[in-house]
Amino acid sequence: MPYRIEIARDIAACADTVPIQREVWSADVVVPPQLLLATVRNGGFVAVGYADGDDSAAGFVFGFLGIYDYHFRHHSHMLAVRAPHRGSGLAVALKEAQRDHCLDQGIEVMGWTMDPLEALNAHFNFTKLGTYAREYHRDFYGAMPDRLNADMPSDRLYVEWPIGNDRTYRRLRGDDPAPSLEQAEHEEVQYLLRARAGHPGAAADPGGATHLLLEIPANVQELKARDGALALEWRLAVRAAFESAFAAGYAAVELLRSGDRVAYLLVPQPRRGTPDGSAQLA
Ligand SMILES: CC(C)(COP(=O)(O)OP(=O)(O)OC[C@H]1O[C@@H](n2cnc3c(N)ncnc32)[C@H](O)[C@@H]1OP(=O)(O)O)[C@@H](O)C(=O)NCCC(=O)NCCS
Repeated sequence: MPYRIEIARDIAACADTVPIQREVWSADVVVPPQLLLATVRNGGFVAVGYADGDDSAAGFVFGFLGIYDYHFRHHSHMLAVRAPHRGSGLAVALKEAQRDHCLDQGIEVMGWTMDPLEALNAHFNFTKLGTYAREYHRDFYGAMPDRLNADMPSDRLYVEWPIGNDRTYRRLRGDDPAPSLEQAEHEEVQYLLRARAGHPGAAADPGGATHLLLEIPANVQELKARDGALALEWRLAVRAAFESAFAAGYAAVELLRSGDRVAYLLVPQPRRGTPDGSAQLA
């Protein structure tokens, strides 16, 4: 790959992320380089990718140390690659550098939020990296003015990435590919939510199915630009479907695609007991 990854340790490297933040989101949501530096000096991580022969940064990743469910965890807050460099493998390389940093710290799970309607991001997270999700948050960041998030409630899936896991290594190597949506349909996996003439259809009851499909639009940014009301209809339908599935103990484990159709695959999660007797997802 004609890119090099540099782990940021000083203010100049942290400042290199700012033009990318402005370009990808907007000037309204920039994390200042001083805060990035404070974070990397305290267990956090910023890495910047540069194309060979170009001093301006092509992409970056930023995450910090946190605690989740009584365990240390790395929360990855931002990942971005400038449009001309996309599809080069740079984002995966940045995530691998971040994973190595976390494994050195003895951390086994990384987490971050993603918009459940962003099919390309979901493909990146679930298919290329091997994340899963079992938490849904309504309007997590409130109203966001930036170009990717404007005009919609900022609902988020919380995705978890088990970085020491064999399946994750296989995914990163490109082994163990996800099945296609067509294969899942051939095996008669039921839809929890399915498009009907471009609109979200009525949501089914999760019931006790071993597998469920939850369809999303193939390109939500294009949909938002074309028909904002329909994009919002999808937001609310996908929200209701995820909330009912997660409440029933399912987790999203794959993103399946066939042509221009895209659907999450959900499976029931085993439950384990907790000291107070309540059930908790394993
Ligand atoms: C998501 C993002 C970081 C991917 O960067 P990248 O360098 O293109 O990623 P890689 O080359 O390592 O991987 C490409 C994969 O990501 C997917 N992808 C995700 N978003 C994409 C986008 N906007 N454009 C192109 N590919 C994208 C591609 O489908 C591709 O999968 P494939 O190889 O099976 O076709 C980049 O598109 C981006 O900065 N997006 C805007 C910011 C954002 O949404 N960040 C949150 C990411 S969870």
